[in-house]
Amino acid sequence: MTNPKSKIQNPKSLVRAIIRRLHPYVPGEQPKIKGLIKLNTNENPYPPSPKVLSAIQAAVDARLRLYPNPTAQALRVELARFHGCAPENILIGNGSDELLALATRAFVEPDLPGGSRVDPRRNTFARHRSTIQYFIPSYSLYPVLAAIHGARTNPVPLDATFALPGLPELHRGRKWDFQAALTFVTTPNAPSGRGYSAPELEALCRAQRGVVVLDEAYVDFASENALKLGLRLPNVLVARTFSKAYSLCFLRVGYFVGPPELIAAVDKIRDSYNVNGLGQIGALATLKERWYYRAQFRKIIATRERLSASLKGLGFEVFPSQTNFILVRPPRFPAKRWLERLRAKKILVRWFSLPEVKDFLRISIGTDAEIDALVKAAEGILGRSQPAFWTEAGSGAPRPFGIVG
Ligand SMILES: Cc1ncc(COP(=O)(O)O)c(C=O)c1O
Repeated sequence: MTNPKSKIQNPKSLVRAIIRRLHPYVPGEQPKIKGLIKLNTNENPYPPSPKVLSAIQAAVDARLRLYPNPTAQALRVELARFHGCAPENILIGNGSDELLALATRAFVEPDLPGGSRVDPRRNTFARHRSTIQYFIPSYSLYPVLAAIHGARTNPVPLDATFALPGLPELHRGRKWDFQAALTFVTTPNAPSGRGYSAPELEALCRAQRGVVVLDEAYVDFASENALKLGLRLPNVLVARTFSKAYSLCFLRVGYFVGPPELIAAVDKIRDSYNVNGLGQIGALATLKERWYYRAQFRKIIATRERLSASLKGLGFEVFPSQTNFILVRPPRFPAKRWLERLRAKKILVRWFSLPEVKDFLRISIGTDAEIDALVKAAEGILGRSQPAFWTEAGSGAPRPFGIVG
């Protein structure tokens, strides 16, 4: 309703055009329906260690009135010790999402009229400086961050196996921008779950003239990580999070590892108290409990392998995964229909409308009981009974590293 006394007829006119046009990031549904099995947002199905819970509970006292440490310094120091680097190589964020957003602001020139002194349409250098590059499919937040910032995007499709293209292939394809201001690589890839090796990532990072963020949100479930690249190369930031593997989504703690110059640039533009105090305490306590989490990773990986085998037995195409989720192409009905039919059975999985992945479902690895229920529901939908090998223990799972140094 418009206020007759005001000169503003429509409050929407106060919003920047770029924001009016924006399609925001759509997070996975977080419903609170009783009995619902939630396999849609890649959360760890197991709780944090009891010692982590105690540390957080013990901090809920009169100190809540105080601001937390502005740089999360104790956590920064402990992570530096753990990764064998200096605190200046580490920056803590309000989840890794915050750091990804800050990186767009620190390293990319907006491609807006007046945003750059040179008209980017007429200047190749300026065009590279305004470009955020990423593979398709990968984390669907990247294009949203680019749109918010008014940056150009360069989405480059992966092939049907989701493998990381080699340099000759990228050169041949002519689409890849070796001078893009910022390149995001989700590694292991999401939503495919495919893992990438450190040497292939290193070759890519060395070939780039701009900043590369290696988004290792799921790396604790993988057999390899590329953290050392953040400590060796001048243009690489590695993003990690306590959300997924360490059961702390609720507290929002992530971090960058990288060269002090890039870390300092991002540090300059973050909010003064960007990481809440309970998050700092929870993450610090988590670092002391690594064995607890490693046992969980082994369990989640074993469940992942069992689920993959079961769904293959039911006719699903299952992609190999190095994460706590699997990407599957379901049989008989379109993936969206599977999403609806599973939801009707109170099981939530993730479906993306993006053309490259619209035929797939992404299923987070839950507890064994949750996964049993999913397989049973899929059998019900297909009108089949459970295959015998479902009861066998998983085998051949790769060794998880935990928070890997
Ligand atoms: C690839 C990837 N990177 C980063 C994040 C963000 O994690 P955080 O909870 O640390 O913000 C997610 C969360 O879904 C993700 O899938």
